[in-house]
Amino acid sequence: MKRDFLAETDFSKEEILQTFELARELKEKTKKGIEHHLLKGQVLAMIFQKPSNRTRVSFEVGMYQLGGHAVYLGPQEIGLGTRESVPDVARVLERFSQGIMARVFGHHLVTGLAAAARIPVINGLSDLLHPCQILGDLLTIIEHKGHYEGIKLAYVGDGNNIVNSFINVAGILPLDLRIATPKGYEPNAEILQSARSKGVSRISWSEDPVDAVTGADVIYTDTWASMGQESETEMRRKIFQPFQVNDELVSHAAKDHIFMHCLPAHRGDEVTDAVMDGPHSVVFDEAENRMHIQKAILVKLMA
Ligand code: CP
Ligand code: NVA
Repeated sequence: MKRDFLAETDFSKEEILQTFELARELKEKTKKGIEHHLLKGQVLAMIFQKPSNRTRVSFEVGMYQLGGHAVYLGPQEIGLGTRESVPDVARVLERFSQGIMARVFGHHLVTGLAAAARIPVINGLSDLLHPCQILGDLLTIIEHKGHYEGIKLAYVGDGNNIVNSFINVAGILPLDLRIATPKGYEPNAEILQSARSKGVSRISWSEDPVDAVTGADVIYTDTWASMGQESETEMRRKIFQPFQVNDELVSHAAKDHIFMHCLPAHRGDEVTDAVMDGPHSVVFDEAENRMHIQKAILVKLMA
């Protein structure tokens, strides 16, 4: 039966750990220039309703390195659910390709594609979740901290798709997840309740960024206005100001903490130049790992 990767919860703990292992293997082969054409001749159709740098390039280059090919379908092309119905798009793309990756606004669009397609569908970001990002981020945490178990991860900022995905993962892998967002901008309540009910991780929420960051091994932030919320940028800038990750805030973290951001960063808003470019920042390792983890996900679903 075909498998999809629309949410972290689509994989078991064992499968997530296997994906880390495979990503590490493929990363090493890539660095050593060892050919690994595990998806020779296969095609990935990539639907983008939103802009992208990392997701597009990492999937496209990743498919090339795996011996396959990726087709980019930008916001002007498909008209997912407008020019053509979601199931019809899926039924057409499965005639040309062996996998679909989609970056969408409503999460129902990726679940709709997956329900109609007989080929694997991967969520390349929805308004609700960004699962490829979060698995890549955990790979980065393991590389820099040596492990993920019990890691004190402080997420500071907007309760968006990134933190929802971290919460999902915390329902599967043991983390100490400390979330700080302004009131009214909390993460998805259902996802939070479901992850907490699994009893795997400690997951706390507060309105106090210092409280979240104190003693943290990892400090993570993201844009204050996600794609689709651009009209709220000015309003959010005022509300989120106390949540800026700057030298004062990071001074409360563990001495050997790392700073992470899924990027793109809005320097001077959610993070200062000093933190982004400082010695604790691993944001470009993090960006690179998107490709290695996604290659492992592609192989798991398509090989
Ligand atoms: N982090 C991430 O998904 O980046 P892009 O929006 O550039 O793809
Ligand atoms: N929360 C951001 C993540 C970008 C990778 C957004 O959805 O725009």
